[in-house]
Amino acid sequence: MNNTTIAVNECSFRNMMRKSIPRDDYGTHAIHSYTAKLIPHIARHYIGLYTKKGELVLDPFVGSGTTLLEANLLGRNAIGIDINPLASLISEVKTTPVDVTTLEVAVRHVVDTITRTAQGDNVDFPNIDYWFSEKAQKDLARIRSAIETVRKDLEPSIYRFLLVCFSSIIRRSSYADPRIAKTYRSRRMVKKIQESWEPNPIELFKNTLDRNCSRMKGFCEMINGTHNYSKVIQGNAGEVSLLMQREGIARADFIITSPPYVNAQDYFRSYKLELFWLGLATPEQVRLLKQQSIGTESLQGFQRDFALEDHIKLLRTTCQEISRVDPAKCVVVCKYFSNMRMIIDEFDKTLRKNGHLCIVTGNNNICGVPVQTYEMLIHMAEARGFVLVELARDKIMNRRLSPERNHQAGVIQEEWIAVLQKVTS
Ligand SMILES: C[S@@+](CC[C@H](N)C(=O)[O-])C[C@H]1O[C@@H](n2cnc3c(N)ncnc32)[C@H](O)[C@@H]1O
Repeated sequence: MNNTTIAVNECSFRNMMRKSIPRDDYGTHAIHSYTAKLIPHIARHYIGLYTKKGELVLDPFVGSGTTLLEANLLGRNAIGIDINPLASLISEVKTTPVDVTTLEVAVRHVVDTITRTAQGDNVDFPNIDYWFSEKAQKDLARIRSAIETVRKDLEPSIYRFLLVCFSSIIRRSSYADPRIAKTYRSRRMVKKIQESWEPNPIELFKNTLDRNCSRMKGFCEMINGTHNYSKVIQGNAGEVSLLMQREGIARADFIITSPPYVNAQDYFRSYKLELFWLGLATPEQVRLLKQQSIGTESLQGFQRDFALEDHIKLLRTTCQEISRVDPAKCVVVCKYFSNMRMIIDEFDKTLRKNGHLCIVTGNNNICGVPVQTYEMLIHMAEARGFVLVELARDKIMNRRLSPERNHQAGVIQEEWIAVLQKVTS
């Protein structure tokens, strides 16, 4: 079977799975927002279909951990990789059950400590005054210092839970518009600032603690003491076989992933304020991590791969059309597919024979030219010996991808789910 003959299954996963998943935010799914988050319905459907209990699910672009959480809730083991240290922190917290009574004690402890902390340790990074009022900086520093003060009394999992709660209020405590994925002072925010709007980080933090404690409690009840293996690694998907080897894991039974879109999201620009406040990366580290990220405009060290374009006719045609409008953008597109080809080779090395690879992706427009991402990724996987077994299309309703985020990239309105089987050993 190949993609030219297979029928497309038109689906609405939300409708299809309304009974088993009535809300997107159940369990710990909503403990932190994340751009281009996968809906849990898709993860649950395909993990349930292609794996058995106890098998190992891998997501090499794990983001905020939707697939890992669904895998664990279905009794599967899971491993996730992401280049963004904030993503790996969120995924880890989302899938690590804690003792709820201990958590509640820790939360009271940190809230008391904030009240007693008049001044927190100074936090500084480029343009901090542009993004935060003096009062917001002071309050955020008090919260950050209180978390560090109580850290010695806490289990590491609870300390990390507090960090995620702290991270989730950073954007709402800043002058950046929380409704827009990239860190950006919109006209709406400028107007609010002119009207002397002041965020209240301490109130936001207390409310977030309450809500996230309930979410964690819900997750622990669902898991009910039968937690499966779950591991999150901060690293590059281009090295997934090596990263798995280091964990002592030979092969995954199933790979499910939603890779970044070409030229659509700069995750480091979107999460730089959180990374700096949490001390997860310095501006220099962010710059270096950004170079390893897939889908960004950074062309550091990239040599255009014409052989790749020859190999995939559709890519060559797409590149020619984009090049007529903007040759630089064409190189960005080539780099994306060149990276993704290398990553598909890595998937091949990491997946067991007869295991399935499920890629969830969208098409977008670059310079007005449609880029059929799913089709090109299918071609690449087929060239590597995978066989396409299923193709579905779903309409996107909630991926936190605002049209304001990137005018040239166009709005992604649907996602394609391709399932391929590895038939070679
Ligand atoms: C579309 S998001 C995944 C969202 C995820 N499915 C969720 O539900 O939250 C893509 C992710 O790929 C990550 N990423 C980009 N380049 C990467 C690379 N080279 N290695 C690993 N992760 C990478 C980004 O940081 C981002 O978190």
